[in-house]
Amino acid sequence: MSAMTADPIAERIAALRVRIDDASHRYYVLDDPDLSDAQWDALLRELQQLEARRPDLVTPDSPTQRVGSTPSARFAPVAHAVPMLSLGNAFQDSEVAEFVARIERETGDAAPVFSVEPKLDGLAISLRYEDGRFVRGATRGDGATGEDVTANLRTVRSLPLRLRAPATGLPLPRVLEVRGEVVMPKADFERYNAQARADGNKPLANPRNGAAGSLRQLDPRVTAQRPLAFLAYALGEVEGVELPPTHSQTLAWLRDLGLPVSAEAGTAAGLSGLLDYHARIGQRRDALPYDIDGVVYKLDRFDQQRAMGYVSRAPRWAIAHKYPAQEAATTVQSIEVNVGRTGAVTPWVLMAPVQVGGVTVTRATLHNADQIARLDVRVGDTIIIRRAGDVIPEVVRVVEAERPVDSRGEPLHPAYAMPGQCPVCGSAIERGEGEVVARCSGGLYCPAQRVQALFHFAGRRTMDIEGLGERFAEALVEFGYVQTVADLYTLAVDDLLEMKRRADERDATTPATVKAGKVADKWAHNLVNAIDASRTTTLERLLFALGIPEVGESTARTLARHFGALQPLMEADEASLLEVPDVGPVVAGHIRHFFAEPHNRDVIAALRARGVQWPEGAPRRSSEGPLTGKTVVLTGGLSSLTRDQAGERLEALGAKVSGSVSKKTGIVIAGEAAGSKLAKAQDLGLEIWDEAALMAFLAEHEARDDAR
Ligand code: IVH
Repeated sequence: MSAMTADPIAERIAALRVRIDDASHRYYVLDDPDLSDAQWDALLRELQQLEARRPDLVTPDSPTQRVGSTPSARFAPVAHAVPMLSLGNAFQDSEVAEFVARIERETGDAAPVFSVEPKLDGLAISLRYEDGRFVRGATRGDGATGEDVTANLRTVRSLPLRLRAPATGLPLPRVLEVRGEVVMPKADFERYNAQARADGNKPLANPRNGAAGSLRQLDPRVTAQRPLAFLAYALGEVEGVELPPTHSQTLAWLRDLGLPVSAEAGTAAGLSGLLDYHARIGQRRDALPYDIDGVVYKLDRFDQQRAMGYVSRAPRWAIAHKYPAQEAATTVQSIEVNVGRTGAVTPWVLMAPVQVGGVTVTRATLHNADQIARLDVRVGDTIIIRRAGDVIPEVVRVVEAERPVDSRGEPLHPAYAMPGQCPVCGSAIERGEGEVVARCSGGLYCPAQRVQALFHFAGRRTMDIEGLGERFAEALVEFGYVQTVADLYTLAVDDLLEMKRRADERDATTPATVKAGKVADKWAHNLVNAIDASRTTTLERLLFALGIPEVGESTARTLARHFGALQPLMEADEASLLEVPDVGPVVAGHIRHFFAEPHNRDVIAALRARGVQWPEGAPRRSSEGPLTGKTVVLTGGLSSLTRDQAGERLEALGAKVSGSVSKKTGIVIAGEAAGSKLAKAQDLGLEIWDEAALMAFLAEHEARDDAR
């Protein structure tokens, strides 16, 4: 019969919804995705477009409805039909032993089986499904009444809007309330905060606050921007289905219905089984995708649960076995800055030693100057720090009530100001307008940046010094053979042999042949020859090799063409730099700071003095051609040439090649497996070429150029 309903749009919409739900289920529940992000996005976009044409077919359980609806003034109260309980805590093994003994005694079961699960550190939520459809979601509140956060929960991608027909063939329950935790996965939390810090926005204190704060947004469109996940661990009201006899089987059934359940959930018997599980999960705590604050043991058999019953608002058949907290309080001894290999200056605090997450720490990062200003961290302050995984702990907040004050009640220490000079090399610390990161402008001169600078300088796409890898770069700097990249051009074979001998000794990697008195020196001759050969280079390679922040290969090429020679570039003011295509105020600022730093000018003078040379010519504006004035973006893989080669040939025809798609992009060339850039180009309605179109264009226009 249904084949006769000739509504192809309705059919396509239904098919797309099933396909997207399936893909989400595979991704979030089975952890076995079968679509790429781009494919998934494309299906969702198609569905959105069809639904826009047919608003009559939009339903609340469509995957398009996760984007967030309009804000509400407040959350309506929801009475929980079955109260949401809390759990008793155990911190010591002995408390777990008492718990198990009590159960053994009262049930008469000598080896009771427990469902064992991570205790997820997020926000407890109850979801209500009626006839398989998600109809309402509420927070725990006081356990009896919570808040209706349905619109926000719809935006959580791993939360199914429709239950799946179970493989067992059993019917879907009439009513199913599922309890679980909404969490912010750690990786998503880190990514969110890195972006927030880069944008100068307020980062989230920790993943739990991230999850709780995001769900309590009155505007679901804000929630939709937050990376949240849901994991089920218990039931509320259930109607119209017979439940399995144990909790662990219930979790399997929930998983079968399409609800995500923690991959670490399992069963264990007796006290030793529980303590083993606690230790095993504890070891993997840092590697788990979510923050946990313990594990939960639940007596598995429902009949035994009923026999044990409840005290006040917690079951007597379950307990949470906690881990050491990942947040702790301590005091600030001093505020220091660290200079990274790229010159980024990162402030951090030296603290009174404190235990957090089971290890003792004395340093915590403050990330950047904005973060210091936001937190107003001062010497002597009591601070809350947080450690997650093996990342260095970070400062979460200051306990302001405990700030030390003088006799007049004024803070004892002033607000912290970042130093103006690099603590390593004394060069000026600069922070470009609109930039979050402050940098040492010492560039090639700063010891903190030397290894990285040297390695970059020697790279294949810069000065192309074969044989100078990271290990040698590091040894040359560490043993003092090279202060700046210009010193490379003074190295002799004997220096290199001595450097290698010292590095081998330090690393205990001295080859047996060397110990036996033989000296292999061919590599050293080769390296000296490679260094010598790199003396003759091009301006664009040199500019890229200098490691000016934000000046990559393509900007270096544009600068070399535009200025033709180094001196005018070194003397260029902001206005003339801004005339260069692709150079904005930020890049112009970096270039000017770099060449204003006397240390860097000295290095360039030394390079010249030691014979490094490059042809210079008159400034050359980008060539006139059929693509003059057009910005072209290359994305995906090409089969007949590399993206660089394609870029060069397009530039030769006048194009400006850029890395990002915007309204101003003229043409997007999409190769194999082009992803989000292609999708964006389609969204913006830009001109899109495939590889064949590109090759045809090059063939036609390059031939014409030759003929001219
Ligand atoms: S079961 C009747 N299982 O812990 C027991 N709770 O302290 C009801 N939680 O509000 C809770 N992970 O937010 C249970 N695997 C888990 C859990 C878990 C985290 C939280 C939940 C609850 C609190 C109780």
